[in-house]
Amino acid sequence: MSWVTFWRRNRATAQQQAQPAGLRIFGGRRFVRGVPYILPSDGEELNRLDFQHYMLRYALKGNFAAPLRQPHAILDVACGTGRWATEMATLFPQANVVGFDLTPPPMESGTTMARPDNFAFIQGNMLEGLPFPDNSFDFVHQRLVIVALPTTQWVRQAQQMLRVTRPGGWVELVEGDLLPGGPGLTTLNQFGEQMSQKRGMSFGNASRIDEYLRQAGAKQVHRQIVHLPVGQKAGRLGAMAATDYLAIYASVRGFLINQGMISEEQYNYLIGQAQAELNSGALTWPFYITYGQK
Ligand SMILES: C[S@@+](CC[C@H](N)C(=O)[O-])C[C@H]1O[C@@H](n2cnc3c(N)ncnc32)[C@H](O)[C@@H]1O
Repeated sequence: MSWVTFWRRNRATAQQQAQPAGLRIFGGRRFVRGVPYILPSDGEELNRLDFQHYMLRYALKGNFAAPLRQPHAILDVACGTGRWATEMATLFPQANVVGFDLTPPPMESGTTMARPDNFAFIQGNMLEGLPFPDNSFDFVHQRLVIVALPTTQWVRQAQQMLRVTRPGGWVELVEGDLLPGGPGLTTLNQFGEQMSQKRGMSFGNASRIDEYLRQAGAKQVHRQIVHLPVGQKAGRLGAMAATDYLAIYASVRGFLINQGMISEEQYNYLIGQAQAELNSGALTWPFYITYGQK
């Protein structure tokens, strides 16, 4: 099947394909069943993801780092709200942009979020492979799947991304690590890492994404580390980073308490401590950006 046929068929049927995945309610939040992913999939999380997108676009000075020229086909793996993908569709009107995720972005259910004509959503589980023909895209992007992708799957995932990339095209990965701080953040981060390790994942993978891309066969691998300033004293970006980090822990609160990993009182105490540490103005949050060529 040619890329154009593939595109037209999927563009036309994306609405029908966007069936909701199996969901479960846990601690008042909605989660997707049957995958390692530990963050919720609900309206509150979609708002956080959009907020985080604007924070990252500002902090990283744009939506991508790879040396793109005029891409004709772009894929966003684990596209979340579709915000990144639709902005890329607007920036590159000549390109077909595909967002791929377990759950459909809000625009698929008829919300007011604008959907550019050159954007299509495909629903699926990336752990079952990427459902696209070889050499389909000029740019394949994946951001913030650290708590969705088991350690054993990183190289395989990078291989899949390279498989669907055209020769000469680029693959870009972006991940955030844990934000190191004082006793409150350190303890919360230990719980976060424990929760991830129970599902075969680790925040340690964030700093290794360039190695994974190299092992998968990418050439000209480039790596950049950006340390986001954190807290009110660091200005608007710092305030956004502190809010986002606390919102991540708020989203797994019910999980930590229900699993007996932590009591409600201990959680509240740690969040209070973490809030003070985040606002001290002395912390930074490391993000890793890596890209490589096929
Ligand atoms: C933290 S969000 C990041 C979303 C987006 N990349 C961004 O930067 O805003 C992680 C996304 O991965 C998706 N996800 C988790 N596990 C997945 C899987 N096995 N296959 C496809 N998508 C998955 C979630 O539905 C969620 O949208």
